[in-house]
Formats: sequence, C-alpha cells, structure tokens
Amino acid sequence: MEPDLFGTRRDEPLGPGAMILRGFAPDPAMVEEVAHIAGISPFRQMQTPGGRTIGVEMTNCGALGWVSDRRGYRYEPLDPLTGRPWPEMPQRFRQLAQEAAARAGFPDFRPDACLVNRYVPGVKMGLHQDRDEADLDAPIVSVSLGLPATFQFGGPRRGDPVAKHALTHGDLVVWGGPARLNWHGILTLKPGEHPLTGAARINLTFRRAR
Ligand code: SIN
Ligand code: FE2
Repeated sequence: MEPDLFGTRRDEPLGPGAMILRGFAPDPAMVEEVAHIAGISPFRQMQTPGGRTIGVEMTNCGALGWVSDRRGYRYEPLDPLTGRPWPEMPQRFRQLAQEAAARAGFPDFRPDACLVNRYVPGVKMGLHQDRDEADLDAPIVSVSLGLPATFQFGGPRRGDPVAKHALTHGDLVVWGGPARLNWHGILTLKPGEHPLTGAARINLTFRRAR
C-alpha cells in the first residue's frame, strides 16, 4: 500500500495493545476484492445458536471462515452454503493486515481467517468479545469500508467503560495483547450513501483462528 497517499494517515492509540490507524486502507480495490469474494461465497444472514437471525450479513475469505448456526459459533474450512472452500484471502488483504498489525506492535501476524461483515442502515452489532479463535496471542485487525459507523470499545470485563469512536472508510483498528479480549461492538448504522459501497458499510476482521 502506498505510504500516505492522501496525507491522511494517522495513528490513534486506544490504550495498551489497541490502536486506530486512520486512513490506512482507502484504496477502492479493497471494495472490488469484497465484491469478488461475495461472487464466490455470497453474503448471508446466519442464525445464532439460540435461533435468532443475525442482522449483519456475513461471508469469509481465507483458509477458515467464521460460522454460526444452531450448533454454535466456530471456524469451518468449507462454506456451508456452497459446500466449497471459502475464497482465497487476497494477497492485498493479507499484506495490509500484516502491515497494520506490525505498525500496532504485533509483528509476524499471519491471519488464516477473514470475516467479512456487511451492515445496512438500521443494523448493529452488539457488544461482544472475539474468543472463538484458538490463538488468542494473535491480534484482531479490523478494516472499515464504505459508510461511517460508531465503534464501541471497552475493556476485558463486560462492565468496563466503553468509549465511542467514529470509523470512516479506510480506517483500521488493531487490538491484541492485553486488549485482545476487549468488548466491542457497532452502533446502529445511520442511513447514507457511499460512492464505493452504496447504502452499506463493509467490515473485514482478520484473525488467526488456529
Ligand atoms: C466485529 O466485531 O466482528 C466487527 C466489528 C466492526 O464491524 O467494525
Ligand atoms: Fe468482534
């Protein structure tokens, strides 16, 4: 990725182990890669183990994909919708995630899973921890594309205070080490149109699942 293409890159530490990298991934090619992935493994709404429908539409790329259904949350090498492997993780994605992780203090990040979330206005993601990964030493690298959203970021305990951060197209968030199990979520997406994604926000989260 070109260094500071538009002069808007900026690091914003969120505390030990966590950082926002503003303007790190504005390249429209990111959105084109998502369209390619969704052409192979389409966005779909999954079910929670309790039988509710998750509002955020999801797909994956990489060796493993995150899935949820009546049997629980887990990582699977095959897309249950197509019966085939998830689309490959684009080299551009892998490189971006590694670069961002290193910048935030996590060299040697080798993601094997990338969950792709699609939010439309009215959809949110409640506070949760990412703890379905076997490797909790590796950080989470999150990329925001399209419509802006409000990211909530708390601490490792459910009741810890939660701060709100506006995330716009091209912003990354990295959390790992002491922040790896911090609670986080996305407030209800506001209506809007983005030139690259239309009325939607796309989020990529890179993980080391095994
Ligand atoms: C997630 O926590 O998996 C997604 C966060 C986001 O959409 O920014
Ligand atoms: Fe998460």
